[in-house]
Amino acid sequence: MPIPAPNLYPPFNILRLSHIEFGVTDLAASRAFYVDTLGLQVTDEDDETIYLRAMEERGHHCLILKKKAQASVDYLAYKVFSEDELDKAHDWFAAQGHDVAWVTRPYQGRTLRTHDCFGAPMEFYFKMDRLAPIHQQYALYKGVKPLRIDHFNCFVPDVDKAVAFYNRIGFRVTEYTEDEETGRLWAAWTHRKGGVHDIAFTNGLGPRVHHTAFWVPTPLNIIDLLDLMATTGYVGNIERGPGRHGISNAFFLYILDPDGHRIEIYCSDYQTVDPDLEAIKWDLKDPQRQTLWGAPAPRSWFEHGSLFDGVEPVAATLKATPIVAP
Ligand SMILES: [Fe+2]
Repeated sequence: MPIPAPNLYPPFNILRLSHIEFGVTDLAASRAFYVDTLGLQVTDEDDETIYLRAMEERGHHCLILKKKAQASVDYLAYKVFSEDELDKAHDWFAAQGHDVAWVTRPYQGRTLRTHDCFGAPMEFYFKMDRLAPIHQQYALYKGVKPLRIDHFNCFVPDVDKAVAFYNRIGFRVTEYTEDEETGRLWAAWTHRKGGVHDIAFTNGLGPRVHHTAFWVPTPLNIIDLLDLMATTGYVGNIERGPGRHGISNAFFLYILDPDGHRIEIYCSDYQTVDPDLEAIKWDLKDPQRQTLWGAPAPRSWFEHGSLFDGVEPVAATLKATPIVAP
């Protein structure tokens, strides 16, 4: 199925991805991973919840860890351009027959909760508490020196359907993978903020979250993190990489948190703000698609993901197989 033309005047204006809430089973173990190892900054915490931000971020949180009996993802959140855009989003989702509710979230103004075309929970807000800048407080930099949240990647049972839906709310495709045999999409990368993606979609049992990515200053920070993880009890949490992606041209590493939520450490993709930017097409069987240097991903990378709380995933309709490491 062809990529839809960019929708430059969507029904409401999403600025960028903002944050994600993970259900975690051991808050202390998650804190050791995200704070002591990765270097995210705690902005508030109690016995039930930890709020975190990365070094460049002025908003109160980009990651919320909530103590739960089972690991889960509670929602993916996006910032819109103004309060008016929130009302437009509410009315648009309601008109499409999606559930809509105004919910209360600490450190945020009005927050709209709804869901995408697969039932994956989405939240939208404009106002979040603003914090003092810390990006030049170099004494605070630790771990991999995370600068900002960069993107989500989700398994979905129908990538063509995902691209069609997210196109309607203004997400523009930058790169995509096509299955040559059927002509259907196997994966797609879509953005609002002018990078390669705010959210990407991968063919598979879904909806589930495949990973959440944080931007770091340089590939050397990734090497330093690997040395740290390898010598502090986290060698089993290193899943794939480091490497250079074919798609996005970014330097990457994939790691798993103590509950199995996958985190990507990511840097150096490219600018995509031109409204007439041509999307780049990849063949599913191109060995340089996943990793420019040719190394394929392990099977776990194509199968393991995080469940959304209360959302039952369904099997993918496309059965095409990517290149998997032996
Ligand atoms: Fe990614």
